Amino acid sequence: MDKKAVILITRKLSINTEVRAAQDYEVRLNPQDRLYSAAELVEKCQGVDAILPCHTELFTPDLVEKLPGSVKIIANHSVGVDHCDLAALRAKGIVVTNTPDVLSDATAEIAILLLLGAARRASEGDNMVRTGQWQHWSPSFMVGTQVTGKSLGIVGMGRVGQVMAKRARGFDMEVHYYNRNRLSPVLEQGAIFHENLESLLAVSQFLSLHCPATPETTGFLNAEKIEQLPDGAIVVNTARGALIDEDALITALRSGKLASAGLDVFLTEPGGNPKFADLENVFMLPHIGSATFETRDAMGFRALDNLDAYFSGREPVDRVS
Ligand code: DGY
Repeated sequence: MDKKAVILITRKLSINTEVRAAQDYEVRLNPQDRLYSAAELVEKCQGVDAILPCHTELFTPDLVEKLPGSVKIIANHSVGVDHCDLAALRAKGIVVTNTPDVLSDATAEIAILLLLGAARRASEGDNMVRTGQWQHWSPSFMVGTQVTGKSLGIVGMGRVGQVMAKRARGFDMEVHYYNRNRLSPVLEQGAIFHENLESLLAVSQFLSLHCPATPETTGFLNAEKIEQLPDGAIVVNTARGALIDEDALITALRSGKLASAGLDVFLTEPGGNPKFADLENVFMLPHIGSATFETRDAMGFRALDNLDAYFSGREPVDRVS
């Protein structure tokens, strides 16, 4: 019988994923779900054929150089691959895959939650009731921004962006988007394409980010771009914290240029940015876009599908590098 490939699973995944992985591979698990330091990660990779990591493990050029030659593939349990230095991994001959599609619904749900929460002052209201500070009611109390019928600008009309557009249409929102390539009319579903970001920003009463963090997109939502949004606009980010200049966002939230923001991702994770904590007009979550039972299974299975393909000599469907 062929020896099973050895897989390092860096974080605690869904039970169904771990059970399936153990059927087909010799698995090294992390039942305590501890975040490994770079040195520990290198040590855990000794004798390993494949790594199944999350976005929490950073494959920097330095770490990649130290990986043992036995590692042939990194099958990410994430759609984002900004934690992987793809050039360094390519140079070392290590295949990289991700888990697209399967988290689009869950992530779009959180984007809608943030959009509604930011518009209707959810964290302020929740905090008021929770802390016993709800002492009065009047028609001028806790008035927020109505979502129905407003314009939504989507930056990055990939899989998640397209589901977000579909959900937003349920609120009669007029969907606009900016993407590297214009979608076909079937995928556009009436969404209005903008050839440049400036023209999208000018019409976006709500702006939702759905593009990957790359050197080109890092910090793109800066003071200059925020200024181009309509006054009182609302920004939602479920993609990556690196897309936003957080200081510029805080300034705009303080000045009232932006009415509010809904954020699931931050420059520093875990932890977020403590400067947001003083602002009542920010609705925040701790990077849980894909955190549903169904999606965790689907992500784990997708990563295993990619490993199965690789180890049976086929091209993994989700190969990114
Ligand atoms: C992803 O898949 O990139 C999500 O951010 C969770 O890791």
